[in-house]
Amino acid sequence: MTTLSDFFPSVDSFMPPLVEQTEYLLNGELKKWDGEFKKIYAAVKQKDSDGVLSDIYIGKVPITGLTEAMECLDGVCQAYKNGFGEWPMLSVEQRIGYVENFIAEMLKLRSEIVNLLMWEIGKSEKDSEKEFDRTIKYIYDTIDALKKIDRESSNFIIEEGVIGQIRRSPLGVTLCIGPYNYPLNETYTLLIPALIMGNTVLFKPPKHGQLLHYALSKAIQKTFPKGVVNFVYGKGSEVVEPLMQTGKISVLTLIGSSKVASNLKKAHPKTNRLRSILGLDAKNPAIVLENANLDETINECVAGSLSFNGQRCTALKIIFVHENIIDKFLEKFSAKVDELKAGMPWDANVQITPLPEPEKINYLNECVTDALEKGAKIINNKGGKTEGSLFLPAVVYPVQEGMKLYREEQFGPIVPICTFSNLNEPIDYMIHSNFGQQVSIFGTDATEIAHLIDGMVNLVSRVNVNSQCQRGPDNFPFTGRKDSAESTLSVHDALRSFSIRTVVATKENTQNKQIFNTIVRDEHSNFLSTHFIF
Ligand code: G3H
Repeated sequence: MTTLSDFFPSVDSFMPPLVEQTEYLLNGELKKWDGEFKKIYAAVKQKDSDGVLSDIYIGKVPITGLTEAMECLDGVCQAYKNGFGEWPMLSVEQRIGYVENFIAEMLKLRSEIVNLLMWEIGKSEKDSEKEFDRTIKYIYDTIDALKKIDRESSNFIIEEGVIGQIRRSPLGVTLCIGPYNYPLNETYTLLIPALIMGNTVLFKPPKHGQLLHYALSKAIQKTFPKGVVNFVYGKGSEVVEPLMQTGKISVLTLIGSSKVASNLKKAHPKTNRLRSILGLDAKNPAIVLENANLDETINECVAGSLSFNGQRCTALKIIFVHENIIDKFLEKFSAKVDELKAGMPWDANVQITPLPEPEKINYLNECVTDALEKGAKIINNKGGKTEGSLFLPAVVYPVQEGMKLYREEQFGPIVPICTFSNLNEPIDYMIHSNFGQQVSIFGTDATEIAHLIDGMVNLVSRVNVNSQCQRGPDNFPFTGRKDSAESTLSVHDALRSFSIRTVVATKENTQNKQIFNTIVRDEHSNFLSTHFIF
């Protein structure tokens, strides 16, 4: 009989990556580090001849301390030089040139990065490739969106005797921290817009999914001016808060927990100077109405709740099903969940893969035990079986107020299901939720759906009809209400979030017109210019 440990590779049957990083990017140089290191182990485990699982060492990263963090901060402050640095004063076209050179370097790293995503965070090969390709596309789209913004700003406005030119300017030194579930995509969809708008960036790689950032830091070193991006390592609690306390950070951009974000914001001594661009917690509900098309709904709910083992901020993290269809729903949904293929990231068509957080399996078990003690059951046959870093998805029903699974964001392969007789029950759930990212409504009655849309657009930032919650397409705004987000990200919106509209204006008289004409004609300024990017 196959056991879960059979899914893991045998010792010596594979070739894991090995990235031992003994330097970090500081002011355009890779600075040697001979202090402490953090050892990195793969999400994937190896099994010996007795089937016993053990960790696979895949590399190490520096644990730099506060002194190094402050040095990194000074470097990016120097590069920004209160707005008079080379980087913030470049023209948009010049900054685009740097980013294009970076893309060329990044493309050379595709197979290395995909491999590291698979080993370090356990993402399937297909999804790892998708993450890389989506990020490249995002950067190209960002360049196109910025060209468009710049073209629209390449003119003057004359009103009430005042001549003005309005463009977007950078905000300053930016602290950028990404999440472990999309360690490439979600960090680079912050980093690139921040940079291309002229900000300088202090970059802290996520807790898991760190190794791929070493190769990328070398690509940054090769392509960007010195100090435009510096890398900070070490324990977040020890280095990040003190960085904020200096008051030198103008933008905090983070995809992670609302608790961390609010502590960091509070640490800043001049909160009005700080702009926060945040993607935070979510507990997106699905609401399955009595008249929903069950087969389509179940396919969307399985993908929505369990893609990448449920480790997406946009995942469906609780499902409300109308009482008249709950039995049918549970039967069909559980069967589909049990059909999901578990295995290693490189296995063909794999859907359930090892989890990267060592403490996660315990937490998931705690959630399930708590629900079972309070009267719920695991509905699917394979649900909750676990070995090493694998946890087979558990469908838990009925989940109710008072259970951890009702309110906590499990961020893993558990699907809590509740039932309702009156639509006010899921609506009340959303009203009282701390989160307000998205919702999915499944049904076929246009009038009922329209009513829900009109109310729910005021509770969350995206209402999905007969489809799972998701971030993409990347041109759609990605944000949330309450503790789920601050500011908006999309290809276009991120460029706005990381910049501020700024005006250069003068009274319309002969002398001023002559000055402006000379500046524009002789191309003295990168801001005051009618240059058109083709
Ligand atoms: O973890 C949150 C991500 O932004 C989700 O993105 O919906 O494309 O998986 P996705």
